[in-house]
Amino acid sequence: RTTAVILAGGTGQRVGLSIPKQLLKIAGKAVIEHTLTTFENTDSIDDIIVLMAPGYVPDVEKIVAKAGFRKVTRVIEGGSTRNETTERAISALGEGLAEGEDRNVLFHDAVRPLLSRRVIDDCVAALDRYQAVDVAIPSADTIIVTRTHGEDGEFITEIPDRSRLRRGQTPQAFKLSTVRRAYEVAAGDPNFQATDDCSVVLKYLPDVPIHVVAGDEYNMKVTQPVDVFIADKLFQLASTAAPEQNGEEAYRELLTGRTVVIFGG
Ligand code: CTP
Repeated sequence: RTTAVILAGGTGQRVGLSIPKQLLKIAGKAVIEHTLTTFENTDSIDDIIVLMAPGYVPDVEKIVAKAGFRKVTRVIEGGSTRNETTERAISALGEGLAEGEDRNVLFHDAVRPLLSRRVIDDCVAALDRYQAVDVAIPSADTIIVTRTHGEDGEFITEIPDRSRLRRGQTPQAFKLSTVRRAYEVAAGDPNFQATDDCSVVLKYLPDVPIHVVAGDEYNMKVTQPVDVFIADKLFQLASTAAPEQNGEEAYRELLTGRTVVIFGG
């Protein structure tokens, strides 16, 4: 059994609007509705739980009811950090699990609404062989490591070989028992600090290999104000795609077919 966990507990401070960014309307639908639609329509997903920013659970319940999503079984409040939100999801999922029973769990950022079904299917398939799976794409930019020296500002300390660098996306997929164990070990660390779930497994269960599945350039995270415009534009393009099309293939087709319109002004 495979459960998708939609992490929507944040409030979107960097986008800086009066509502959480996952509720912003892009191409006529809330960001989180786009995200839920993709999981709802992916056969390898059996059920979905949503962890929403405190105070906004009813907004998501309304969206779910109106769209008629059948796979969404629970909408509950997230925690005050992304990792706390994950922990809440783990305990919520654990409640329904019999002794010795396990399941697949995919954690996905609500604010990555352009996820493709291909990436979801690849994650689920990889869980047949691995207990932990990440999704990543190569980095087009050179990544530099810096250190700050007081008022003089930042200086480069290292420029890692770009060919080995990847940009992590979501979903991050696990056997529930594995990610739960990682968080149990982490709970004993007074200096616990992480922002994603693979780093918790990497640090606290170092013997568990984390397989990497190829992500998708379109699977962007709506993080800064400019991302809202980019996502909106991509959805406008996608709205002309066939319903079964999704992700990179559909966009590539659209972009090459409409190059003149888009870039020719
Ligand atoms: N998230 C979460 N619980 C939190 C914080 C974040 O579930 N306490 C989720 C967000 O809702 C988002 C994803 O984690 O879907 C990625 O986080 P990020 O882009 O940092 O979202 P925000 O925390 O909302 O943004 P900001 O840091 O700008 O406030």
